[in-house]
Amino acid sequence: MSSELRNLNEVTVRAPATVANVACGFDCLGFALETPFDEITLRRVDRPGIRIEHLDGFGLPTDPARNVVGTVLGSVIRAAGGDLGFEAVVTKHIKPGSGVGSSAASASAAAVAANELLGSPFSRPELVEFARDGEFTACGARIADNVSASIFGGFTLVRTTEPTADVIALEFPELHATVLHPQIEIKTADARALLRNEIPLPTAVRQWGNVGALVAGLARGDYGLIGRALEDFVAEPYRKVLIPGFDDLKSASLRAGALGGGISGSGPSVFMLSANGSAARAVESAMDRVYSGSGIDYNIYVSPVSRTGAATFR
Ligand code: HSE
Repeated sequence: MSSELRNLNEVTVRAPATVANVACGFDCLGFALETPFDEITLRRVDRPGIRIEHLDGFGLPTDPARNVVGTVLGSVIRAAGGDLGFEAVVTKHIKPGSGVGSSAASASAAAVAANELLGSPFSRPELVEFARDGEFTACGARIADNVSASIFGGFTLVRTTEPTADVIALEFPELHATVLHPQIEIKTADARALLRNEIPLPTAVRQWGNVGALVAGLARGDYGLIGRALEDFVAEPYRKVLIPGFDDLKSASLRAGALGGGISGSGPSVFMLSANGSAARAVESAMDRVYSGSGIDYNIYVSPVSRTGAATFR
């Protein structure tokens, strides 16, 4: 659509699903997928306030105070000042509670769309802060790893979240993700409650060694190092009991040629990374063989790691 014809009172933004933690980087690493994504059409209207309509069938609340998109738009309105009015039509393609950043994708799409309609007054780090408010509505914590990857695209490292998220976009080589989503719901808050508050020093040393190695492996395009670094001693040992067949999925995927992987975010999805698309599809077949007899419904996504984040679709 030419810029002359574009309706500046309305924008449609797609924001990608994301894999948070990336095994070793609990709460600080994430990457974006090309598919699935959430989509929001946002309209500026004269009547102040926020109205939300969902075209998906997930039964999410449309009360702005209880809706991720409503929370984010409220934060943008407060920061922009003034009595602004927004109408949002939300089409979620990412099932809530899937572990691939469903709430983060909606929050990121809302932040990017509102910024676009206001003439882009906010920076990407500021959009991350608005989106984190949406995460608080979804799970009671202003988690930054999913929203950073969904807004920036690619691989992101959140160095700290205090006082605001310091997001670093990482260099990375061609990588393809295979993500199995068992159709069971794990609430992030429940999965976080399983974690230990204290980590023995030798375990912490192994974990931060892997985080550094993964960032180095990504920057060098060293697939062997990336694979060796995809280990998690902090969350996976406590959370994997929630995911039927987790160990079998992981070992079958590694045999099929995956570099490595683990739990996607807080689960139940399980992700694997591969160096090319054909390896990622071989991993898909291996995961499918493990899960086809499980009695649990599931989807498998195969997607390159996306180099772009939430963006205007039309
Ligand atoms: N880093 C968060 C967690 C991601 O693992 O709890 C939640 O999707």
